Amino acid sequence: MERLRHYFLPEQASPFAQDVDGLFIFITVAGTILLLGITAALIYFSVKYKRRSSADVTPVIRHNLALELTWTIVPTILILFIFAWGFRGYVQMRNAPADAYEVYVTGLSFGWQFTYLNGVISGGELVVPAGRPVKLLMQSRDVLHSFFVPDFRIKQDLMPNRYTTVWFQAENPGEHIIYCTEYCGSGHSNMMGRVRVLADDAFDAWMAGEAAKNEQDLPLARLGENLYTQQGCMACHSVDGSAGIGPTFAGLYGATRNFTNGTSAVADEVYLRESILVANARVVAGYPPAMPNYQGVLSDRQVDALVEYIKELN
Ligand code: CUA
Repeated sequence: MERLRHYFLPEQASPFAQDVDGLFIFITVAGTILLLGITAALIYFSVKYKRRSSADVTPVIRHNLALELTWTIVPTILILFIFAWGFRGYVQMRNAPADAYEVYVTGLSFGWQFTYLNGVISGGELVVPAGRPVKLLMQSRDVLHSFFVPDFRIKQDLMPNRYTTVWFQAENPGEHIIYCTEYCGSGHSNMMGRVRVLADDAFDAWMAGEAAKNEQDLPLARLGENLYTQQGCMACHSVDGSAGIGPTFAGLYGATRNFTNGTSAVADEVYLRESILVANARVVAGYPPAMPNYQGVLSDRQVDALVEYIKELN
């Protein structure tokens, strides 16, 4: 059974995984046995009771109490057993331990932002301590997204203006992929992230390093570089000239942009600011109007920082 599991299920990196996999395999095996049994009976009866001549008359059978009770009671017990097993796991998954380490999660088109209680923000990467329960308080900045970590067997939708929660406990240091598993627009398949589980010392060191990146003390371009990952720009805009859902930032400053409305402009500071705050005011030809507005999301200093970072990429 363990061998079988390895073939078609991901690593078991949270305590939920064993229970989820056990139930999944039980349903798969029970379903397969029923399918084979019913198919075999169907074929057997088709041959055995085939109408052989026009003189064959179908006997009139009104009912068979024993048979009817059997096919009602046996599946009911099976279904209730599956329900009880699933419900036990559901209750466990819905109730995070009171001492859980809390992290706020924002889903945005198209990336993940993780905000720690001390104010540290991590873009695309959720760094957590090993061996501790971690509770995520999640919401979306724009449309519906869904947070899915297959290795932990957890999945939860994110909605605007409302918190949803999920929790997990990763016992060992390691890395696990986060997928967005709700179609959210043209960058949906790029909306991946990573959970990095660190031992206590390594986690404390990481946190101290992040906390030292005080926004007010950073030069603008360096702040812009941080925001590029924290705010999810990286999901659509490359900085090395490679193609993406949106135009690359490399060589963007000072370039002539042709828009879908037939006009054109030189990408100066004024244009860059407009493109960040009111993203779809003018859309570059050849690209979808997929970018969310950052008006009210970024401070003036943060917009300045992104503009300076883009200018540096020439
Ligand atoms: Cu976010 Cu799909």
